[in-house]
Amino acid sequence: MGSKIYNLGIIGYGSMAGIHKKQLGKGNVRVKIKGVYDIDKARMELACEQGFKAYASAEELLSDTEIDIVLVSTTNETHKDYAIKALNAGKHVICEKPVTLSSAELEEIMRAAEKSGKVFTIDQNRRFNRDFINAKRLIESGVLGRTYIIESRVEGSRGVPRGWRTDKNRGGGMMLDWGVHLIDQIMHMTDEKVVNVFCKMYSINFPEVDDNFRLTLTFESGFTAHIEVSTNNYITRPRFYIYGTEGTAVITDWDGSGEYIKKLTDDSKWDSEILPVKMGPSKTMAPRNPDTVETVKLTEPKDVTDNLDPVYEQLINAIEGGELYIKPEQAMRVIKVMEAAFKSAESGETVKTVI
Ligand SMILES: NC(=O)c1ccc[n+]([C@@H]2O[C@H](COP(=O)([O-])OP(=O)(O)OC[C@H]3O[C@@H](n4cnc5c(N)ncnc54)[C@H](O)[C@@H]3O)[C@@H](O)[C@H]2O)c1
Repeated sequence: MGSKIYNLGIIGYGSMAGIHKKQLGKGNVRVKIKGVYDIDKARMELACEQGFKAYASAEELLSDTEIDIVLVSTTNETHKDYAIKALNAGKHVICEKPVTLSSAELEEIMRAAEKSGKVFTIDQNRRFNRDFINAKRLIESGVLGRTYIIESRVEGSRGVPRGWRTDKNRGGGMMLDWGVHLIDQIMHMTDEKVVNVFCKMYSINFPEVDDNFRLTLTFESGFTAHIEVSTNNYITRPRFYIYGTEGTAVITDWDGSGEYIKKLTDDSKWDSEILPVKMGPSKTMAPRNPDTVETVKLTEPKDVTDNLDPVYEQLINAIEGGELYIKPEQAMRVIKVMEAAFKSAESGETVKTVI
């Protein structure tokens, strides 16, 4: 392991940059903020107060030879230009999600990265969330048999934060905001390709952008992922719901807590009589004999570092010759799925694809 401390320059010193600053301030990773550039004077003054250099322009920041890495944490529509400028200036780049507004824009960045020989990565930090890691581990363990449906939801009732997130041209809307995380997580759970995309988008409180959506992705084997983001739901549902051939899991909360229920023995022997159950006469939906299943509680995975440290660690690892964990090619697949989702929402039809 190397010992070099990397100097970071931040372009766009808003609220997410504040989260990076707070985490880097803990000193867990070999990255130190040197200075920032933001178009907003108040943010530059804050950076000065915090002891960072405030650059007069992005160009000045990029021409500082002491800056090794640039964090692009501006609003979404500006990511592409800053990422390319930073790569052309010989900097490694970490770009906030969504990496770009289109796959064509990301292609441009990837070409610039290749030409410069510098590392380009994306802050898909939700790959390190405890809820997701518990779900991924559970699926990989095979304890539920073959997983055939995953439901992944994030839900709130306070609408979309105001400002640029309600502006279509600036990359607003929930698909680009939360959808990008949830799609990235699902695509990180399987090696299969997406073959069908169907999406319904809603503009409940903000006419210009999708402030709620329902997305269904079908993979090659028929495995499906249902991804839902709501900003107008007053009754929050579980974070993940997973259907396997041998059991069912629910992850109720962000810390990964929940449970799974797994079949122990077959309960497919039917009585000849229809059972008097609550929903009226039904055999199919009659309750199961509780002795034929096992219930296991899921708790917070204590070994998971649920913060931005692993995002920086994987970048440093790649700079020092290791393999990048959050790769631009992976972000490209996510962007292409989102493009298909927008196309489906617009046409009302399922988009057939191979992504
Ligand atoms: N990874 C995550 O979990 C996560 C969470 C929140 C936000 N984000 C992403 O971070 C980025 C910033 O979001 P935010 O919530 O901090 O927004 P924000 O509005 O709080 O901050 C954006 C900052 O960029 C500055 N800015 C805008 N245009 C600029 C330009 N052309 N040049 C220089 N500075 C400019 C603004 O003045 C502002 O200070 C977005 O891409 C967003 O999607 C990621």
